[in-house]
Amino acid sequence: MTEASYLREKLERISPTESVERVIVQHFAVPLLHALGFHDLEIRYEFETGCGQVDLAARKNGDPEDIFFRSPKNPYLLLEAKSRVVNLKEGSCYRDAVCQIESYLLGENCKSAKWGIITNANNIQLWRRHGKVVHPATANLDISSNNIEGIVRNLRDKIENYERALTICVYNNKGGVGKTTTVINLAAALATKRKKVLVVDFDSQGDLTRNLGVTPGKITLTQCLKDPKIDVHSVVQTYRLKTVRQGKQSIVSIFDIIPRDPELETLTDSQAVAYIQKGTRRLRDLIALLRNEYDYILIDCPTQWLYFSQSGVFAADVILIPTRPDDLSSLNNAARVITRFVPETARSRQDGGPRTLPIFFNGVPSGSERSENAIKRANDEIEKIVSQERSMNLLPYFWPHFKRGNENKSIFGIPDYAVISSASFDRRPAVFSHRKVLEYYQSLAREYFIDE
Ligand SMILES: Nc1ncnc2c1ncn2[C@@H]1O[C@H](COP(=O)(O)OP(=O)(O)OP(=O)(O)O)[C@@H](O)[C@H]1O
Ligand SMILES: [Mg+2]
Repeated sequence: MTEASYLREKLERISPTESVERVIVQHFAVPLLHALGFHDLEIRYEFETGCGQVDLAARKNGDPEDIFFRSPKNPYLLLEAKSRVVNLKEGSCYRDAVCQIESYLLGENCKSAKWGIITNANNIQLWRRHGKVVHPATANLDISSNNIEGIVRNLRDKIENYERALTICVYNNKGGVGKTTTVINLAAALATKRKKVLVVDFDSQGDLTRNLGVTPGKITLTQCLKDPKIDVHSVVQTYRLKTVRQGKQSIVSIFDIIPRDPELETLTDSQAVAYIQKGTRRLRDLIALLRNEYDYILIDCPTQWLYFSQSGVFAADVILIPTRPDDLSSLNNAARVITRFVPETARSRQDGGPRTLPIFFNGVPSGSERSENAIKRANDEIEKIVSQERSMNLLPYFWPHFKRGNENKSIFGIPDYAVISSASFDRRPAVFSHRKVLEYYQSLAREYFIDE
């Protein structure tokens, strides 16, 4: 009997109204970990994450001295179990369990952890951790004895093949908020932290490609999108920068780029849908072939919620939304992305979809009085947006530190800084022109992505 069919038998014996969590841990979660390839000496009960105790932790043992059961360090996977009477299908108990697995995965003792599972033997969801980001790796699945073996195969395949990259789509359904500027400077800031980065210009305007002065090669992105036989590697260029150190000139590779080509500009959204096989799924498939070669893949999209943006969001693990504190419509459009476009994408992807990160302010005015006024007005608008939204709680997306009894309304901000806009004339990221700008974007990288 295989571990997976043993798990199915165990599942069939659990009462549909089982209310004791311990029973789910012993009769479902532990056999599940066995079916996922961990044996008893690779599993620990009640593992201290540094942010509370998780029910189970697991990791493959190394050499004979390195037995996880005996020295529980560097877990790879965490599992939080609930009893069957806790509703993990939807609603507040599900959301609480998601917050719980996220905080465990980010706990001090779990820096090595890559995966988190929440389950009550009725539902199960796998979460992936990449740096500071925790995002869904599967939909929240309904478990039955008919599908449990398939679920195990799917989970095991993901767990054993952890992909290196986090794909970030920088998107707001509002123009001129700094999407392209963020992609360029965040990519450069990540590169200064020794991360291997790829940027994709998926805006037919081609601002990203132009601002970096990159020329597309012989084989173009448009050809690659249309012809599945073309290897995506042939459209990847490297963005290099001339540097002078101690009087010596050298050329340094900063990050890779898939540039926009002129043909892409002539392609309307409806033509793209007609000519490109698999429509808005095509970009995701292309990127999948590159995910083990980079730490971060950043996608720049246009504003309108049409082919190009839908493809970028569809391809992403997470969505980063720039807003402008002095542009109230950028805040309202951010809410549309969170409440409509990302859930729409999650429904068609059927794998949990991308996770939306809390918004940030791009272009906070200089001068304390001007910036305080702009932020106050923006926060008044956010208050309205949050209180009028009935379908979901928007607070964590706007004020991530806000808690009952601690009304912290802080939002991460990048200042409005002339060097940032003038850098495009020099065809180089602003972070390489000014130390302060580098610090701003490195702190954006630390705030959302890098776990240092
Ligand atoms: N923090 C900043 N400080 C100063 N200027 C900025 C800042 N961020 C962006 N800009 C400038 O604002 C303008 C719009 O930025 P950007 O092109 O990045 O926005 P976008 O959202 O990509 O626009 P589009 O919707 O046209 O694609 C550009 O001229 C850019 O240089
Ligand atoms: Mg742009």
